Amino acid sequence: MKGFDHVIEPPFEEVFRQDHSLKGRWHSDWFRNSNPIVLELGCGKGEYTVSMAEKYPEKNFVGIDIKGARMWKGARESLQKNLANAAFLRTRIEFTGSFFSAGEVDEIWLTFPDPQLKKKREKKRLSGPLFLNLYRQYLKDGGIVHLKTDSRALYDYSLSVVEANSLPVVSSLTDLYGGLTGDPLLSIRTFYEEKFLSQGTPITYLAFRLPHEKEIISPEG
Ligand SMILES: C[S@@+](CC[C@H](N)C(=O)[O-])C[C@H]1O[C@@H](n2cnc3c(N)ncnc32)[C@H](O)[C@@H]1O
Repeated sequence: MKGFDHVIEPPFEEVFRQDHSLKGRWHSDWFRNSNPIVLELGCGKGEYTVSMAEKYPEKNFVGIDIKGARMWKGARESLQKNLANAAFLRTRIEFTGSFFSAGEVDEIWLTFPDPQLKKKREKKRLSGPLFLNLYRQYLKDGGIVHLKTDSRALYDYSLSVVEANSLPVVSSLTDLYGGLTGDPLLSIRTFYEEKFLSQGTPITYLAFRLPHEKEIISPEG
């Protein structure tokens, strides 16, 4: 990873309760263009980051995960494919507020996050109120959050967050491949997705807008 100059691996002290030097400067100092920035949070091997970067050269993509060994695969692939619009950031998602300034991010993808279904784990759910309020800090007003998951329970929970907060739904599918959307963006398959599909588990997809106006609250009270 150290040899990859499109991978950022900041030490903990650089981001804990302080801003990283790239915050507010991704367009000018990193991508050197003004194209929209899309994040894949918990990117694992980065299949979405790499495939989206290939399909959409007019957008910038940042894959974020804490596990370097997984990320290495996507980082190597994007280098081999010469994708100047793909970057990887190795950090905890909890620290993303140290990396991105208000309105700097256009869209967020959550690809097969750990469901964290126990009630006391709600704070760890990437589509729960705690994380959505973090994303509100840097996602454009009304920017889209996409969630792809094999977990029907996580999908149902996320939809209940959306409904409890009257967030505008862009798309909501309980069986993505049964639904035949034909959307090339939705046909990208991640490592975990292939695993669940081979077990016959339906893949769900939820996309919604995240306006800034109100703090996101839990549907569980
Ligand atoms: C189930 S895997 C999914 C990986 C990939 N998106 C896929 O679909 O194959 C969840 C990923 O989220 C990452 N992750 C979970 N919590 C995280 C956190 N708080 N900060 C950074 N990465 C996290 C894990 O390291 C793991 O790679």
